[in-house]
Amino acid sequence: MCGIVGYIGTQQACPILIEGLKKLEYRGYDSAGVALLNGGYIDIIKTVGRLYDLEQKLDGVSPEGSMGIGHTRWATHGRPSDVNSHPHKACDSDFVVVHNGIVENYLELKGWLTARGHVFCSETDTEVLAHLVENYYQGDLLEAVRKAVSKVEGSYAMAVMSDREKDKIVCVRKESPLVIGLGNGEQFIASDIPAILNHTRETYIMDDGEIAVVQIDDVSIYNGSGSKVNKQVFKVNWDQQAAEKGGFEHFMLKEIYEQPPAIKDTLKDRLNVLDYKVELKELSLENQYLKNLNKIFIVACGTAYHAGLIGKHVIEKMTRIPVEVELASEYRYRDPIIDPEKNLVMVISQSGETADTLAAMKLSKGMGAKVLAVTNVVGSSVSREADSVIYTWAGPEIAVASTKAYITQLVAMYLWGLHIAQLKETLSRDQVTKIIDGLRRIPSQVQAILEQAPKVENIAETVHQKEDLFFIGRGLDYAVAQEGSLKLKEISYIHAEAYAAGELKHGTLALVTEDTPVMAVITQKDIYEKTLSNIKEVKARDAYVIAVTVKSNQSIESEVDEVFYVPENENILMPLLTVVPLQLLAYYAALMRGCDVDKPRNLAKSVTVE
Ligand code: F6R
Repeated sequence: MCGIVGYIGTQQACPILIEGLKKLEYRGYDSAGVALLNGGYIDIIKTVGRLYDLEQKLDGVSPEGSMGIGHTRWATHGRPSDVNSHPHKACDSDFVVVHNGIVENYLELKGWLTARGHVFCSETDTEVLAHLVENYYQGDLLEAVRKAVSKVEGSYAMAVMSDREKDKIVCVRKESPLVIGLGNGEQFIASDIPAILNHTRETYIMDDGEIAVVQIDDVSIYNGSGSKVNKQVFKVNWDQQAAEKGGFEHFMLKEIYEQPPAIKDTLKDRLNVLDYKVELKELSLENQYLKNLNKIFIVACGTAYHAGLIGKHVIEKMTRIPVEVELASEYRYRDPIIDPEKNLVMVISQSGETADTLAAMKLSKGMGAKVLAVTNVVGSSVSREADSVIYTWAGPEIAVASTKAYITQLVAMYLWGLHIAQLKETLSRDQVTKIIDGLRRIPSQVQAILEQAPKVENIAETVHQKEDLFFIGRGLDYAVAQEGSLKLKEISYIHAEAYAAGELKHGTLALVTEDTPVMAVITQKDIYEKTLSNIKEVKARDAYVIAVTVKSNQSIESEVDEVFYVPENENILMPLLTVVPLQLLAYYAALMRGCDVDKPRNLAKSVTVE
């Protein structure tokens, strides 16, 4: 995890680095630092804490220099502290590095370097990189970095500067994202595009194994075997405004409110309402292969995994193809059984950079499987390595808690299910028409839910001081409950669990008391009565029950303490609606508990380490 930036040009580098780091805080925010080439030597200023703390430290010091690198950290090796913050230097400050990733063999390398006289001052894995570069330096920084990374096992996006070669920053990538922004007489380096977008839209997106020499008026990129790469310029066509708060108090709330347009954008040009068909023009998987599929794996992490759980219900119902949903961190190590001819692996990842998801994808490809990616970031690692991509058009998601990306991932699941169902003719024309019409109604229905936000705020008022909360549901409602529970715990720190409603009596019911409110998601018509019985079970144990359902189930009012109504739609599409009040509940509860909504403790937006 972590975010890195770099600048070389004619302007003062420090403010540019800080501005870039602010855009990368979603990648980590437990410490931060910058290094600047100030005349003949390198100044390093770093601190534990947020960027604000770094700015305080820089106040009055104003380090000068028109070349520098910077870092915002999410600790992996070594607790957050001043000394463990990046940039890290070798023995005598001549070689300074910022790094995102993990050096897996750092203990071995540290031992080797120590035996050769290197003295370490931090507990980090990154510090070995600075010492390695120093060790291999023989008058050519590029060569030294190349040799250093050849000894490293693990992942890295790294920028290196040295006062021995004052005209360049060398950067290198393996399994952690890195972009170079191309300016006029200046260049920018960053983990992600928003960090450089105020300066340039022309970028090079580095690939695994590439190493770049970034100079004021030249960027040269070499591949792993040392040959110069003729890199295509990637032009960014979305603007910075899209990644700003736009009047909302928090990114999360803004992103919740952006869901109607995000859904519209993800559906755009994909629903042919004349013929009532789904058209995924970007798909490059052959129809015959898709028709022959007998199993689909969906692999993802966190919220994206929860989207996969909905995907399982949707795809199985629409296509009758069995779907297995797996956590990428489990799948990658469990030796999955894949038939490359008849199985498809789908990965879902908002960022397209999640380390476990990427590893799962590589493993699948290594076994000969085709991989279809659902991602929100054009040019991300996942998008580049997949055989085919369905983009979600949610726009940049900044809040750590995923909302609009999740809902557009669900949209992608429906589109994908319909696409296969069309090919295999597993749905009738009437069924397809109903679902397509239903999908078209979703944006305005989500909008209608957002207009009821004060009602959710009242519910949050009732439950926010509780320490435990249960979410229950069956089928698709259960999958939504799982997402609701994750949202609540990650930003409000209330202990929340989601249970399949029918499973409660096998143990969990013992925990239900008047102090454990229960959010019951109950929309699926065929199992309504079943879930209602489970609601009665928790009511009988004095739980305060809030139901999320539709108006036609109004009789539920006599069974529960509160009801939140979402608009009616097709059974299968209900998750697109029921998740919205759960997102709002998490938001308001976190706000009322005084939590940092956009940057919850211990978390980061993009998990680029295992
Ligand atoms: C939770 C959340 C995370 C991410 C997970 C995967 O709100 O956002 O659980 O869903 O880290 O991230 P991506 O989708 O970028 O692979």
